[in-house]
Amino acid sequence: MKALIINCSPVKSGATAEICSIISAELSQRYETKQVCIDDYSIAFCKGCRSCHKTAECVQSDGAQQLMAEFEAADIIICVSPSYWADVPGQFKVFIDRCTPYSNTHEPHASLSKGKKGYAVVQRTGPNMKECERLIRTIEHFCGHLEIEFCGHLGLCSIENKDDVLMRMDEITDFCTNI
Ligand SMILES: Cc1cc2nc3c(=O)[nH]c(=O)nc-3n(C[C@H](O)[C@H](O)[C@H](O)COP(=O)(O)O)c2cc1C
Repeated sequence: MKALIINCSPVKSGATAEICSIISAELSQRYETKQVCIDDYSIAFCKGCRSCHKTAECVQSDGAQQLMAEFEAADIIICVSPSYWADVPGQFKVFIDRCTPYSNTHEPHASLSKGKKGYAVVQRTGPNMKECERLIRTIEHFCGHLEIEFCGHLGLCSIENKDDVLMRMDEITDFCTNI
């Protein structure tokens, strides 16, 4: 089984990256793991042209298709995201928009292989879990329309940097036992 861990932050060595590394270390004992960062990909904005509603393909070809190929190769997909203005970072939202050819809201649509499981791990600096819930719902909604079964989530508040993540190691490793 293959697990894909996506750092949804554009920061390759920040708090989110640290969480990804902890998750990868835990899961690599049971799965083949791959870590990617949204910043590894060059992804243009969705043009909103709706061509994909008729063709199930995007008119643009770039990193969006490369990242979708990683989704297709994985059995388990873990989206790890910081809160940027109370939602996922813009770079990851652009990727979500570009997945519209795969959205089951229109026919025809492209499809990932069945049986994939999705998880959300979100973190923020502020103290209130309600904001984490908002990001979790964004990722759950995304998984739902791609027909990736949404199987679990973890919200971590009061995270500013890598050191704060290390203090929460137990919460993260406990969460991994259920993946
Ligand atoms: C552009 C930007 C917007 C942010 N907005 C929020 C926010 O709305 N709420 C919050 O709690 N933290 C916010 N933060 C703080 C980050 O969620 C927090 O520092 C996180 O650990 C950053 O992870 P990263 O370094 O891996 O991107 C923001 C940080 C940035 C850079």
